[in-house]
Amino acid sequence: MTMLHIIELTEDGSHTLYIPELNEHYHSTHGAVQESLHVYLEAGLHHYDKQEVNLLEIGFGTGLNAFLTLLDTERSGKTVKYTTLERYPVSLAHAEKLNYSKLLDPSRKEIFIQLHSSAWGDWVDITPTFGLKKLQTDALRLEEFQPEALFDLIYYDAFAPEKQPGMWTEEIFNRLYALSNYGAMLTTYCAKGAVRRMLQTAGYRVERLPGPPGKREILRAVK
Ligand SMILES: C[S@@+](CC[C@H](N)C(=O)[O-])C[C@H]1O[C@@H](n2cnc3c(N)ncnc32)[C@H](O)[C@@H]1O
Repeated sequence: MTMLHIIELTEDGSHTLYIPELNEHYHSTHGAVQESLHVYLEAGLHHYDKQEVNLLEIGFGTGLNAFLTLLDTERSGKTVKYTTLERYPVSLAHAEKLNYSKLLDPSRKEIFIQLHSSAWGDWVDITPTFGLKKLQTDALRLEEFQPEALFDLIYYDAFAPEKQPGMWTEEIFNRLYALSNYGAMLTTYCAKGAVRRMLQTAGYRVERLPGPPGKREILRAVK
């Protein structure tokens, strides 16, 4: 995949990226910020009661989930170690045009850019409460991924199963389960029955939760 990225506006006024090759958006066209807040922050991070969170994201993309999580740590007092896997990084030129910092906190534009410009492969303390490790790697080769500690929370934000079926397999969810602490959670915007059953087969207890506008349900899986 070459991943030509086109910036589009979603219904809540926030940007998303569109990939013509896949005919796929990075977020809900009903609202990118609204969806990320709902699926990953409210159903995930806010629901996890420990103060120190070792978090894994599948698909760094625009950095929106990372940025929302960073801003959230400053209000909640949590500290987050954020590992994210991305095979096709967004260019800095595109990242600079995204309107997330403008909408969420204009004074943090540089921090948002730093999420994109920071080195791949190393831990970087972006703020005192948010450490980032970006890995430019293929999530389809999760068996080769050897993190230094088990995860507490997973943001599973791959392209939809119809567009990238290889990203929604029992093999992947079994591996993520093995890489998680007991009590760890995984949230995803995708509520398909087949995905729910794969998560259950991996060992997770799975809840269907109401989705953001435009989406009936989302999933939260607990180990
Ligand atoms: C739905 S988008 C979500 C991105 C991100 N969480 C955001 O808020 O912008 C899916 C992401 O998965 C990435 N991706 C696709 N295939 C991948 C693979 N095999 N390994 C790792 N990342 C992949 C894409 O490049 C894209 O950034």
